[in-house]
Amino acid sequence: LASIEVDISAIERGQAVKTSWRKQPIFIRNLTDAEIAEANAVAVDDLRDPQTLAERTSVGKENWLITLGVCTHLGCVPLGAAQGEVKGEYGGYFCPCHGSHYDTAARIRKGPAPKNLEVPEHEFLSDTVVKIG
Ligand code: FES
Repeated sequence: LASIEVDISAIERGQAVKTSWRKQPIFIRNLTDAEIAEANAVAVDDLRDPQTLAERTSVGKENWLITLGVCTHLGCVPLGAAQGEVKGEYGGYFCPCHGSHYDTAARIRKGPAPKNLEVPEHEFLSDTVVKIG
């Protein structure tokens, strides 16, 4: 199936962009050190869908959080990827449809969604280009 290559060179720490792949929204987020620390401070066993940030990112690229922009409850597009959008109580993403809050690793923390935002298969072709799919 088709993959896409995305130039991530213009995405600053603390910023995210939306793109799309297979007609689904994709969020590409360049986490700050504080956001990484926040994600790593969470007791993973307490999570509804237990995963570490390291399991959701690539080795040596822990700041690049790449997920589908599709809420795992009923499929709305969460807020938080665009400048000025609310990020929810855990600083990641917020789905306004029924109030699901995702943390800085896009893991579900509060609200009805059952799973973390899905991480699509991806690979860094260089420091500035990532292939999704
Ligand atoms: Fe996101 Fe229901 S679709 S909370």
